[in-house]
Amino acid sequence: MDWACILSGGAGVRLWPKSRKTFPKQFLRIIGDKSFLEMTYDRVKRIIPPEKIHIVTHINYREHLRLLLSNVKEENLIFEPEQKETLACICLACIYILKRDPDSVLGIFPSDHFISKIDKFESAVKKGYDIAKKGHIVCFGIVPTRVDTNYGYIKLGRELEKGVFTAERFIEKPDAKRARYLVKSKYFWNSGIYIFKISVFLKELKRYMPYYYDIFMKIFSSISTESYIDELKKGYKFLDKISVDKAIMEKTKRLVVLTADFEWDDVGSWSAFERILTKDENGNVIKAEAITHETKNCIIFSDKFVIALGIKDTILISVDDAILVCHKSKEREIKEIIQTITLNE
Ligand code: GDD
Ligand code: MG
Repeated sequence: MDWACILSGGAGVRLWPKSRKTFPKQFLRIIGDKSFLEMTYDRVKRIIPPEKIHIVTHINYREHLRLLLSNVKEENLIFEPEQKETLACICLACIYILKRDPDSVLGIFPSDHFISKIDKFESAVKKGYDIAKKGHIVCFGIVPTRVDTNYGYIKLGRELEKGVFTAERFIEKPDAKRARYLVKSKYFWNSGIYIFKISVFLKELKRYMPYYYDIFMKIFSSISTESYIDELKKGYKFLDKISVDKAIMEKTKRLVVLTADFEWDDVGSWSAFERILTKDENGNVIKAEAITHETKNCIIFSDKFVIALGIKDTILISVDDAILVCHKSKEREIKEIIQTITLNE
């Protein structure tokens, strides 16, 4: 049977100060009246029925989830005791769903994507489920439009069928020099959406991350028993933080790429909004009451009135208790700084 899991437990630090540890980006309503999580849920619901969609997140986000997706049943929520990045939360979803259905095919959907041309998304993902049933791990390849070090890069190999290729190489988040070379060499971006049979994924986990496999098998045997929460907490303590891309996708031989024809963006940093929101005649993206003069290519989000004079290439984000003012070229450094301050709570 086909199942889906939405990953919704990341910290989203690059969208500080709107995104906070206690209220990260997936729960924010920045575009329109829906949060990224709600938009993801709506997209996935077109393909998989609600009772087969799980959401995995940190236990501290329980209330946010309940507020945003009040119709989702408690049994479809999976809570983690710690944030250990994407390998751990995917493994937890796998064992949960495996308990219900040993033959399950699982689609993994991050909740920080902006996707348009939904019909194309729907048919690509449906095709992905079919291909995954043959024992492949399916990912979706996006044609790069710039050099970006926040993505995984994939080299396509042999065409297996129309639009489906073997993945010859997978390189997660290369440095800028390498990313430039990969874009030139016609690598694709990895969209971060994966589909696989859980049995296939767990085989790869056993091969490439055996201690993770052992820990999750222990947790698996405790599901539906009294000792589950203890096993979960105990197991999580031993897990290193690592992404599924680094731990499995860079290594597995089972990865295939479906070239995506839907429009896709990861809303990971402020500059992403330049690509998805409308700009004024001077190239500014402004979500604030504002007067601007000789102001070009700026990103301004503010709940206070703004006067911007003679500035360019600047990100200005203002919320109740904090303001970010940052030259666009320095955006990458936000994450490092935010991790050192307490005002990220
Ligand atoms: N439950 C849970 N627990 N969810 C998590 C955790 C965690 O510890 N860490 C991250 N997530 C969620 C995030 O909320 C997000 O929805 C999703 O997992 C992906 O995590 P990101 O941290 O946003 O990953 P990324 O964007 O840096 O990289 C991935 O996506 C790129 C495309 O968007 C990789 O797959 C790249 O290869 C890919 O190019
Ligand atoms: Mg992301």
